[in-house]
Amino acid sequence: MPDRTHGEKRMEELARKGIHGRVLAFYDRCIRDMSAGADLAILDLGAGSGHVSLWLAAQDCVGSVVAYDKALKYMRELPKHPKIEKRSQGSNTALPFGSDEFDVVICRYVFHHFEQKAESLREVRRVLKPGGLLLLSDAVLPDHSKSVLNPLLHVREQNIGGYLTYHETLRALEDAGLCPVLWRPYTYSYESFAKYLEAVDDEFTDTAQDVGRLVAPVLKAKLRRAWAALDARVRTEMRVESGDRGIKGFSYDMFDVACRAVPVTGSD
Ligand SMILES: C[S@@+](CC[C@H](N)C(=O)[O-])C[C@H]1O[C@@H](n2cnc3c(N)ncnc32)[C@H](O)[C@@H]1O
Repeated sequence: MPDRTHGEKRMEELARKGIHGRVLAFYDRCIRDMSAGADLAILDLGAGSGHVSLWLAAQDCVGSVVAYDKALKYMRELPKHPKIEKRSQGSNTALPFGSDEFDVVICRYVFHHFEQKAESLREVRRVLKPGGLLLLSDAVLPDHSKSVLNPLLHVREQNIGGYLTYHETLRALEDAGLCPVLWRPYTYSYESFAKYLEAVDDEFTDTAQDVGRLVAPVLKAKLRRAWAALDARVRTEMRVESGDRGIKGFSYDMFDVACRAVPVTGSD
């Protein structure tokens, strides 16, 4: 198997830190509230290694899971399961599914990848049955930190749309006809800045080794310099911890939200 991707490694790390368990407990509460014994049809949007798909497939109230990613190769670690179908054609703004097909759409740690967030959420709303649930988990950044850090994300990772603020997230959901009904905030800490920078190496797993060896150190040095020069407001908002040898770590806010699919009323 080729080297593991950043997403594959990160999801394993979240599982080790116990973050997975708490997110799944939130999802469990939401799907049990709505199932009433029904065999739920669920879309795991951006399924990756399939930690969520496999957990869903083990639940008795779940009838079927479609694990969707931008290419099949990103789901290579997800083993075959009778309840799980892997799909990858189409894009997140034109999903290969009919309208009103799913009781639940789960989108865990994928939203920041989407470039066209409004279109993506409208597409989620289209494939959800009326009254269905979107369970979304991701990070939010305060406005100033967002404007400083989103450009740096593009240095660290390709295929990143960027993070939204708390209010932008709520607004995007409401505008798409996805009404937030339950919100669980929590914090994620990068205890090691070196670990944060490792994502740069992971970007070169599919590239010739020489290219990675040459380019990754340059990009990491650029990120180290940019983080060392962050203004006081970002340092406070991101709870940046510094030591003798530069930045030690930082933290940011995350959320799990359950949204009910409602008719779109338009916004002002
Ligand atoms: C951090 S991983 C999360 C995987 C999984 N949702 C989980 O929580 O274990 C992000 C995943 O989103 C996928 N992804 C990124 N952009 C995507 C897009 N436009 N459409 C579908 N999947 C996408 C990536 O390939 C990767 O598998």
